[in-house]
Amino acid sequence: MSIATLVLDVHADVDSAAVRELVQPGRPLWTPSQLRELTGTLARDHAASLRALTRYTEPQRWWARLALTSGVEVWLLSWLPGQGTEPHDHGGAAGSFTVLDGDVLEEHRYPGAAIGRRTWHAGQGIGFGGDRAHQVRNVGAGPAVTVHAYSPPLLPTREYRSLDDVR
Ligand SMILES: [Fe+2]
Repeated sequence: MSIATLVLDVHADVDSAAVRELVQPGRPLWTPSQLRELTGTLARDHAASLRALTRYTEPQRWWARLALTSGVEVWLLSWLPGQGTEPHDHGGAAGSFTVLDGDVLEEHRYPGAAIGRRTWHAGQGIGFGGDRAHQVRNVGAGPAVTVHAYSPPLLPTREYRSLDDVR
């Protein structure tokens, strides 16, 4: 199969040979560290085009899918102050996010473990396995922008009433 048929979609505003190479269309499944490398590289090397694409919306936060291959989906999200997610996991997919601008607070939990809490600043990010649940919120005074990737792609997220319910 050719590379072109494995890239299902790349957002027109960021489409380039470099981005198509970055999303590794021939890779069927990504590890957390590979996902972390992907979101980190996008945030570092493609910051200008990502910022140009970013919108801010209320009341719901804004998002756009940057890429979808048979192995990975990549998203750009913006967060106005106070905007955030409900507690959720990614349906068993491994994931990653890197902060492009601003700060976000993440509360997370692995089954059976204590709830962890960390504020992620611009340039920082993490890759995580499919058993991690979390809740992300912009608790800062200014807007935040983050780049996310999940593998395998297109698994529905599961929401929790509280991270206390993660078993
Ligand atoms: Fe998430």
